Amino acid sequence: MPSFHYSDLEIIVLAAGKGTRMRSQLPKVLHPVLGTSMLSHVLQTSQSLNPSGITVVVGHEADQIRGSVVESDSFRWVHQSEQLGTGHAVNCCQSECSTASDVLIVCGDTPLLQADTLSRLVDSHRQAKASVSFLSAKLDNPTGYGRVQRDVNGSVRRIVEQKDAAEDELSIHEVSSGIFCVRQSILFELLQQVNNENSQGEYYLPDIIPLALISGQGVQAVVMMDPEEMSGVNDRRQLAEVESVMQSKIIAGWQVHGVTIEQPETVRIESSVTVGRDCIIRAGSQLLGSTTIGHSCSIGPYAVIQDACLGDSCQVHAFSHVQQASLSNDVNTGPFARLRPESNLKDGVRIGNFVEIKKSNIGCNSKVNHLSYIGDTNMGENCNIGAGSITCNYDGANKHRTEIGDGVFVGSSTKLVAPVVVGDHATIGAGSIITKDVEGGGLTLSSRSKQQHISTWLRPKKNNDVST
Ligand code: UD1
Ligand code: CA
Repeated sequence: MPSFHYSDLEIIVLAAGKGTRMRSQLPKVLHPVLGTSMLSHVLQTSQSLNPSGITVVVGHEADQIRGSVVESDSFRWVHQSEQLGTGHAVNCCQSECSTASDVLIVCGDTPLLQADTLSRLVDSHRQAKASVSFLSAKLDNPTGYGRVQRDVNGSVRRIVEQKDAAEDELSIHEVSSGIFCVRQSILFELLQQVNNENSQGEYYLPDIIPLALISGQGVQAVVMMDPEEMSGVNDRRQLAEVESVMQSKIIAGWQVHGVTIEQPETVRIESSVTVGRDCIIRAGSQLLGSTTIGHSCSIGPYAVIQDACLGDSCQVHAFSHVQQASLSNDVNTGPFARLRPESNLKDGVRIGNFVEIKKSNIGCNSKVNHLSYIGDTNMGENCNIGAGSITCNYDGANKHRTEIGDGVFVGSSTKLVAPVVVGDHATIGAGSIITKDVEGGGLTLSSRSKQQHISTWLRPKKNNDVST
């Protein structure tokens, strides 16, 4: 993200509204877009302007919103106890803005907004020595947005909200983004004069425009180059639209960076994920949360990787699920592997099909290739765990650990009943049930029934009597 420096700019982020049209228990601005809340997207963008301060206006579910923000202490929080409109919300921030020369007002429900667009608004506002500047856009479908009304000379006169607009005003295609840059010394004076005589009975921020014009102040609309950026999310359909626009941009960004993405329209890469060069992300895969992936990895098809950390040259084959696990380099998993939280797989580890690993450390080059469960285990290097082997980590009340040394060979279908320790280079015979610690080296077997051979036995024959 580009970085700017606006040391005498206060940014106000409006996030007090209920978001009624979302029909949700969750406050609107906390709905995630590619894994990060709309508000956090807007806050990250705001932060990259390096303003003198950022004030967030909250009201509806204020505590929940504040609690959701990482490093919330780096923002100023203002409580708007009644949501009386965007103008009223800004007016609640007067003391927070007292030292800044300009105030930039953004909405918490426009997650596609880019820092360089905001920077262009502030720069243009200052160059034009305007008192009020705002971002506008020309939309094919302006429904829902405030329309920009201009006079015969093309100068902005006012913004008319959809709900207050007359028939001829509804046909205007230039809309307001709701994003304003206003000279601090006049902002609050103008807001004092805004009334709520409109269809919603709200104090509208855009109503400062005609008031500024009456007092001879300069007002300008800065037309956005990419109108998609101002898309405001008011309902779930718009949430999905905004997410798909952001997804296309993120995918394009990784492609430029040197990542191959097969059937990109089927792939999900959330906004906080990082992917190294020469990775191949195959169809239907999902890279979620704080996942980081090194270079030259192959993921999928249809793998889900969440909050995980992968080194270089790892392969996560089809239908694998990796969650909060860490894979060093050259780790090979799946198809159909499940790596659960707190699993650490060192260089060269191989985890095969239908294997589940939980809260376990697996040493370099160890293999668990088929149908196994390894939980609460420390395993050394160069071990080979045979098909169908299980660490019995749970006694019905408590979890216990299994400690496996280096170079251990565990025969197929072995049960290691924890707590249990297996020494270095031990070999365990197939089908053993191990309930006591195993010495290093040698062969350990649990008692098994004697194998018999009955040479006189005959296979049953199919009964051909149809009457039965
Ligand atoms: C607003 C603008 C409209 C613009 C559109 C762009 C107003 C009156 N209308 O309409 O001109 O085209 O955004 O997306 O400004 N909020 C508060 N306190 C309040 C009311 C709202 O904090 O009392 C916050 C909301 O949480 C939201 C933002 O302000 O983040 C915008 O409010 P919203 O109700 O979504 O306004 P729109 O109808 O979209
Ligand atoms: Ca809105």
